[in-house]
Amino acid sequence: MPVVNCLVGQASVPVMGYNISRKRTFQNPPGEFKMNTSLRITCLVDDCAHQMGLLAEHGLSFLVEMEESRFLLDTGSTDVLLRTAEAMSIHLAGLDGVILSHGHYDHTGGLPGLLRRVGATRVYCHPDACKEKLVVREGSKKEIYAGPNWKAEELAPLGAEFECSCEPRTIAPGMRITGQIPRVHPEEPVPAMFQRRTEAGLKPDDLPDDQCLVVDTPKGLVVVLACTHAGIINTLDYIDTLSGGQPIRAMVGGLHLVDAKPERIRWTISHLEKRNLELIGLCHCTGLDAFCAMRQAFPDRVQYIPTGTVLNFD
Ligand SMILES: [Fe+2]
Ligand SMILES: [Fe+2]
Repeated sequence: MPVVNCLVGQASVPVMGYNISRKRTFQNPPGEFKMNTSLRITCLVDDCAHQMGLLAEHGLSFLVEMEESRFLLDTGSTDVLLRTAEAMSIHLAGLDGVILSHGHYDHTGGLPGLLRRVGATRVYCHPDACKEKLVVREGSKKEIYAGPNWKAEELAPLGAEFECSCEPRTIAPGMRITGQIPRVHPEEPVPAMFQRRTEAGLKPDDLPDDQCLVVDTPKGLVVVLACTHAGIINTLDYIDTLSGGQPIRAMVGGLHLVDAKPERIRWTISHLEKRNLELIGLCHCTGLDAFCAMRQAFPDRVQYIPTGTVLNFD
């Protein structure tokens, strides 16, 4: 069995170095999807933990469960994912798959340990998620490795079955991943510190691998985010396109506004005000300034999501 299955469509147009199929919509899943299925999201890893016995680390991992499917979005940096699951009496065996939102170490580092614990597992990601990633801070020449601490082929013996694609995909009834997200709004640039190595030297890395999970519920879509390097407004606008304008009821995850200037935070809030979101669940790389500004803008809808948070959606 090949380690990596690339599922890039045939009728395609080049977008940011990858071929993305022209027909970009969420495909209907095979079989009947029960619209009365409830959704539970458990935060297994975040940068904050507010309960005794639970740990925090720089990273993110969500367990996303519906009646008939269980997926992990990301795996944090280390084994905190496993330790949280143990502390909360959550059994991770029988997962339908792991989705990697992108290839940064704080989202991919727990994957080897998870595989050792649960065995054969499908891993859904963009092809770039398995590649080297670097951080070079302004005024410094020091290259800091920020990619996965594994190579895809090393994880095959542990049971990883990689399904790499840039495309939007339905991975289970009611569960979709966006694939590569087009960057439409120049107000949402990727910070220059993210770099990749090319034959011509280091170049800015736009992190084309950034994607998120979109879950169908009877009251609308719930968007499960990780770092949102593509920008939250680019992401939500793309989900509108993919879903044909289905209402988005909630978003949960990190927004990578940690270094954002006040103008960008204000711009983001002004766009979110146009949406009728019942919950804006923030954590990880959102940043304190952005969190406070959003809490002020949407006081009854913004919530912090530390390790151990359980969210239920009917
Ligand atoms: Fe990241
Ligand atoms: Fe992150």
